[in-house]
Amino acid sequence: MADEWSSCGLDLLMAMDPGKGVRAGLEHALREAVRSGQLPPGTRLPSTRVLAADLDVARGSVSQAYDQLVAEGYLMARPGSGTTVAPRPERPAAPSSDPWAGAPAPSLDLRPGLPDLSSFPRATWLGAVRRVLRSAPHTDLGYGDWRGHILLRRALAEYLGRARGVVTTPEQIMVFAGYSQALAMLCGALRRLGGTTVAFEDPSHPGYLASARDAGLAVGTVPVDGDGLDVSRVDPAAETVVVTPAHQYPLGVTLSSRRRIDLVGWACDTGGTIVEDDYDGEFRYDRQPVGALQGLAPGQTVYAGTASKTLAPGLRIAWLAGPPNLVGPVSDTRACEDPHVSVLEQLVLADLIGSGEYDRHIRRSRGHYRRRRDKLAAALGTVPGIRLRGVAAGMHVVAELPPGRHTEEEVVGHVESRGVAVEGLSGYRHAGAGPPGLIVGYGTPLEHAFTPALTTFTAALADIYGRT
Ligand SMILES: Cc1ncc(COP(=O)(O)O)c(C=O)c1O
Repeated sequence: MADEWSSCGLDLLMAMDPGKGVRAGLEHALREAVRSGQLPPGTRLPSTRVLAADLDVARGSVSQAYDQLVAEGYLMARPGSGTTVAPRPERPAAPSSDPWAGAPAPSLDLRPGLPDLSSFPRATWLGAVRRVLRSAPHTDLGYGDWRGHILLRRALAEYLGRARGVVTTPEQIMVFAGYSQALAMLCGALRRLGGTTVAFEDPSHPGYLASARDAGLAVGTVPVDGDGLDVSRVDPAAETVVVTPAHQYPLGVTLSSRRRIDLVGWACDTGGTIVEDDYDGEFRYDRQPVGALQGLAPGQTVYAGTASKTLAPGLRIAWLAGPPNLVGPVSDTRACEDPHVSVLEQLVLADLIGSGEYDRHIRRSRGHYRRRRDKLAAALGTVPGIRLRGVAAGMHVVAELPPGRHTEEEVVGHVESRGVAVEGLSGYRHAGAGPPGLIVGYGTPLEHAFTPALTTFTAALADIYGRT
């Protein structure tokens, strides 16, 4: 024991940071020595008198440092036996890998779901943060309104009316930490109102079906064809239909005007509710964005939008604009769950919308993604038999694979073996079958990685199908 201390005493002296002051410096140096194992459990420390003399510091400083580390559990003091290093609690063995991290991603990523995070408008955001911190009253930093801050709800009501043709008021808008949370809350409310069944498009994201089931609802699926969701095939038991009209996820088709009218007709005839997931409606390339379906039937439609594509999913900000009769029930469900969204982030977004920066960023991003889409289409045009779907909008396309030659799984496996992550379409199919395909998220790569990702991906497909 004495050896351990004496071999450490000098190091301890050297580890003391003169800038910290004597007591804090000694405390820090001792804590680090215990943490690092330099002073193992059981080591007897010199008395405060001896250490103070060794270090040429006041004895009171040493006593205070010992007391503090005893209080923190690093040291033990027993009357008559001095101060020793406390035993260490058994630590659970570190798992060999992080179970939540998922499979290691290949270095190039063309999976769908992300915008180009390197184009996040950092300087603009920072400017808005400064303005908000200068102007927001202290009271804004409280829990706030569960529906979201009124300044953001006002800004969204104005923006959605102008940019997406949504008919709404600030009172009908609710802000959430992402669409996934919004959908879960909405399903909870529908269940509390006596709803039993929700219909989702087939194909669609399986996670959303799971969250409806979690809320206690039965789930039906409706096939999607070239005109979007086939309204004539909605399960008669369904009171709610969740749909992605502007750019079907994942097939990329737009709900035709005929089908829009049919869907609104279904809602009016049955008293049903349409949930419009407008996740990437701002991004349309070859003509004006297609306005929201909600504008045709504001009393029957819950409109959902998100900042996850226009800015970044890490912000966790999305919104619902619901018919007035649903706002109360959603709020009751929400009150049970207490999901709040950071008020500061809400105020920053409200500032960006109000100052026109949000629109400017979207206009710039539209050009950015259109150029990427064009490069992708040109590159894949050199691989025979690949057909692109859903190119008119959004940040992903479906690359349909030539039937019969290789399975989707084989193609995904080969592309990944070349270092590019892609996703197959089959994981999104529920009951229906369809041609094999890849969902190619051309928004995802950071700017420096886009060209390498595209070149490697195209070469991997050419290995399989050749070049024209
Ligand atoms: C179909 C669909 N809807 C909505 C969203 C937005 O989800 P969130 O707001 O939870 O990020 C996404 C994100 O990828 C999506 O793919």
